[in-house]
Amino acid sequence: MPFLNKVVLITGGGSGIGEATANKFAKAHARLALVDIRADILKESAENCEKISKTKVLKIVADVSKEDDVKRIIEVTLKEYGRLDVLVNCAGIHGEVTVFDDNIMEKFDNILGVNLRSMVALTQAASAALIESKGNIVNVSSVRAKAGAVSFAYSVSKAGVSQFTKAAALDLSPHGVRVNAVLPGPMKTNLMIHAGLGSKPSLAGKEPLKRETKTEDVAELIMFLASESARSITGSEYVVDGGFLLEH
Ligand SMILES: NC(=O)c1ccc[n+]([C@@H]2O[C@H](COP(=O)([O-])OP(=O)(O)OC[C@H]3O[C@@H](n4cnc5c(N)ncnc54)[C@H](O)[C@@H]3O)[C@@H](O)[C@H]2O)c1
Repeated sequence: MPFLNKVVLITGGGSGIGEATANKFAKAHARLALVDIRADILKESAENCEKISKTKVLKIVADVSKEDDVKRIIEVTLKEYGRLDVLVNCAGIHGEVTVFDDNIMEKFDNILGVNLRSMVALTQAASAALIESKGNIVNVSSVRAKAGAVSFAYSVSKAGVSQFTKAAALDLSPHGVRVNAVLPGPMKTNLMIHAGLGSKPSLAGKEPLKRETKTEDVAELIMFLASESARSITGSEYVVDGGFLLEH
């Protein structure tokens, strides 16, 4: 049981990839701190994890784009558990933005704030605890960091996640802390459905592998990167998309 008694903090833990990742770590007997901006789905996800692990899950309702909330997330986690081993930066939003939009800067700042700025703030806030535990960070990016310029604010935010992951890995590697990123392909989560993208043809299992990528597929990759098996891996990006990028 590689995660027995390890403390794992997951943002966006109320739904989609974050929820699937929380379930995986609950099965591996990790002690969980789940963060989400929505209290209702956070409660449901935490209760599911508690049923799996028979252990209390720390629920933190917070907006990761707000610096005060970021500080509180780390403070509350350390107060509860006294340590932090793994930070999974998963919270994210999508949104259509074009260069013709009247409120372009507001939309841009909103998406960048949640998808990228939050990771910078959380990485700094968590660093001391991760250095102490020789822990690691897994950032959830997207295939949009690599290809496809639709929804430019989203693509820019995820490209930023890739570069930040490498820079943070370099800064933290002398202290024994690893930082990696996963790049999922399109999946029918709430994020895609709310963005009105849930019915795009590419989502219907038409990727080269002829199967839809599932949140569990991403969760397994996150868990591998967070584990001791990945002890030599840092500053790396892993695509998990059923081959989607091969055709885009
Ligand atoms: N679904 C996809 O196709 C896809 C593809 C590639 C990457 N991703 C990335 O995966 C991550 C998770 O997305 P998902 O697809 O599971 O979507 P999701 O909407 O199911 O999950 C995102 C979670 O983040 C939470 N959240 C949103 N804003 C927040 C904030 N400001 N503070 C705290 N929590 C907040 C939401 O409430 C939600 O529970 C995102 O970073 C997304 O960009 C998703």
